[in-house]
Amino acid sequence: MDKLKLGVLISGRGSNLQALIDACADPGYPAEIVLVISNRPDAGGLARTQATDIATRVIEHTNYEDRESFDRDVDAALRDAGAQLICLAGFMRLLSAWFVDQWPDRIVNIHPSLLPAFKGTDSHAQALAAGVKLTGCTVHFVRSEMDAGPIIMQAAVPVLYGDDEDSLAARVLTAEHQCYPRAVRLIAEGRITVEDSRATITDNLEAGPPLYNPPAD
Ligand code: GAR
Repeated sequence: MDKLKLGVLISGRGSNLQALIDACADPGYPAEIVLVISNRPDAGGLARTQATDIATRVIEHTNYEDRESFDRDVDAALRDAGAQLICLAGFMRLLSAWFVDQWPDRIVNIHPSLLPAFKGTDSHAQALAAGVKLTGCTVHFVRSEMDAGPIIMQAAVPVLYGDDEDSLAARVLTAEHQCYPRAVRLIAEGRITVEDSRATITDNLEAGPPLYNPPAD
């Protein structure tokens, strides 16, 4: 079977990109990365493709007068590379409605909270301020509103006594690295259907154990 061709968009250190690179290194994984684009020339994540043959482009948003002309060049680069699914991996720019319309249910994002809670850039601070006992991460299809769209997969992560933003972010990040490749696999295997604002995993019939925090005795 043909592998699903991924275009990955980054702005920073690219640890989720690394998780996808590692997953794609398995010959049995049903997707491959055809292009990585960074909107920042100094993104640490750019170095992650060096030991691979993955094509990499820097398209600096600061060189563009408006959001849509930047998005048009990103769109053209992804199409030239043959991308079929766009994975936002710490891509810290809002995509225009025009761009999102070009790729219906073909853009996914990972966000470090259990959406729809704690949207935005300070999810862990919001979780700590709210005193939730479980937070986590979400992989979702992208809509033009920030951190919104049909949810594909989530992982719940405990908040512990004494946590600060860094310790919580690190615990959630470990879950992100497991979630993102799994969610992309579900899409590549054709197991997700999207209707309006809801994504369904059609064969998801087996419940894992509930996660208690504090742990149940
Ligand atoms: C990740 O925690 C990702 O969930 C978050 O940025 C970080 C990027 O890390 N994304 C968002 O907050 C999007 N709203 P990475 O560059 O190491 O993958």
